[in-house]
Amino acid sequence: MTKIPVPSLDPGRYAETFAVFVARSLEYPQMVAELARMTRAECPEGYRMLDIGAGTGQVIRALAEGDGRSPGHYTAFEPNPRHAAALGATLQQLGLPHQVHACPFSTTTELGTPYDFALFSHSLYWMEDPAATMLHAATAVVPGGKVLAFIAGPYGVHAMFPLFEPLLDRTSPMLQNNAMSSLELVRGLRTRGVEPDLRMLPTPIDLTGLFDPAGEAELDEFISFCLQLEFSTLPAWLKRDIVDYVRGGCVTQDGCLYWYLPTAAVTLSGQCAVPSTTRT
Ligand SMILES: C[S@@+](CC[C@H](N)C(=O)[O-])C[C@H]1O[C@@H](n2cnc3c(N)ncnc32)[C@H](O)[C@@H]1O
Repeated sequence: MTKIPVPSLDPGRYAETFAVFVARSLEYPQMVAELARMTRAECPEGYRMLDIGAGTGQVIRALAEGDGRSPGHYTAFEPNPRHAAALGATLQQLGLPHQVHACPFSTTTELGTPYDFALFSHSLYWMEDPAATMLHAATAVVPGGKVLAFIAGPYGVHAMFPLFEPLLDRTSPMLQNNAMSSLELVRGLRTRGVEPDLRMLPTPIDLTGLFDPAGEAELDEFISFCLQLEFSTLPAWLKRDIVDYVRGGCVTQDGCLYWYLPTAAVTLSGQCAVPSTTRT
């Protein structure tokens, strides 16, 4: 069968569709509660935080304005110019001492300063080797400190890739790899001899009204973000199959339509990487 050519999202379209997804997501309060719990339990007063893939700063804002422990100093890596600009504005408003590196983080990034806490909030999808990247961040975190990654569990969006990706011929590279989940991350850590903690958060997405005719444009944007492609360019039959897949996984509760997409909280301790124990 001839594959269907489709462009992946470019950085501008990524930022637009991410905003649509986040507006529908009910996961952030649960993630922020987990973050608040961990910072209170694990981080000293005035702790130094590293936020890799900080986005627009909505997570650090929620932490600073909620009942978690705010860092004394905040360092971020954020390469998307639109997100980095929004992040800068957020940090100014919060009055938090900070440093923003508007460039990508990788396993070769030099990390001089010791941190007490490092966060990857839904950013490991972008890394060539997510487990190695998380372990690299752990080398800059003090013993007893924590590295926390929020990453999709191996459900809904992740499960769409084996179903639909074989039909597609991407004409541009996919920026965020939503085929990556906590399952692959944990396996990658284990092959390097590190056993992380994993908590699955029962996080729904509210898709109420999205399958109504008036919701069509928003649904296109939502699925574009899930599959990281320009959904509106796909043939009608394939769009129908994909929409049916998403709608079929939703349940109605208290008058709302929810798609359950559990997010995993994967945690490592600082300095945990022990390359000599690497398993094969
Ligand atoms: C899904 S967003 C998550 C943003 C934010 N952490 C949140 O939870 O709302 C992923 C972010 O990672 C950023 N990113 C992509 N590649 C990166 C890299 N190599 N290093 C650091 N951040 C990266 C993207 O630009 C994007 O803003």
